[in-house]
Amino acid sequence: MSEVFPPKGAAMPRHVAIIMDGNGRWAKQRGLPRAYGHRQGVLTLEPVIEAAGEWGVEALTIFAFSTENWARPRDEVAALMGLIVEFFNKKIDELDKKGVCIRIIGDLDGVPELQRRTAETAMARTACNTGLKLNIALNYGSRQEIVRAARLLAEMCSRGQMRPEDIDENALEDALYTRGLPPVDLLIRTSGEERLSNFLLYQCAYAEFVFVPELWPDFTREVFERALLAYFGRARRFGRVEADARVTKKG
Ligand code: FPP
Repeated sequence: MSEVFPPKGAAMPRHVAIIMDGNGRWAKQRGLPRAYGHRQGVLTLEPVIEAAGEWGVEALTIFAFSTENWARPRDEVAALMGLIVEFFNKKIDELDKKGVCIRIIGDLDGVPELQRRTAETAMARTACNTGLKLNIALNYGSRQEIVRAARLLAEMCSRGQMRPEDIDENALEDALYTRGLPPVDLLIRTSGEERLSNFLLYQCAYAEFVFVPELWPDFTREVFERALLAYFGRARRFGRVEADARVTKKG
């Protein structure tokens, strides 16, 4: 790996999103229950959050639990829910001290009371922090998010608070869970799978995708650096002919 990271002149992505895939396979390879893979996956998160903050990434969005994950075996859902509470209970002091601002994206009304209250407490406690914006997708589905946004805008129209012709990209973006965040610049998915799985469909319109073969529990700071190096090498054109200066212009 490069001795100096990030390399001189490289423009960090403002917003990195990660699909933390492969926990189940990691556990299976070791003859362990899937829940062990998720537990190891939480440990993997710590250096990733640390590195993103250190490198000046503005927002990091991680996919912790999707609207479809409720269909997993009951004990696995329970294990994931337990880990979410454990993560907040164990990590909130440290994250707060580092200035991390936590936001849950997803339908919190649909998660059990304990998880909802724990997440809301973490959000309230870190709301004024000005460091890394850590967005945790919990009971999140991008189609559901877009439908919800459409409904919010329709309700505003029917109350006379806006007119249908006022609905533009800004209005729609303001109605998404990710309101106020920059669009995703870099999406990383681990475990070799190459799909979006209903994650940030709108926000990833011009994201660069980097798929790495490592299973999430094996994702290290070095793998993160490698993914970023791949990103730095991309010419981002945003539909134009000239490459965008943000990634490719050095020095
Ligand atoms: C996908 O791997 C991973 C998930 C569905 C859950 C990701 C959750 C965590 C890393 C822990 C919880 C997060 C927080 C913030 C406390 P998979 O189980 O689908 O793996 P597989 O494809 O190998 O079966």
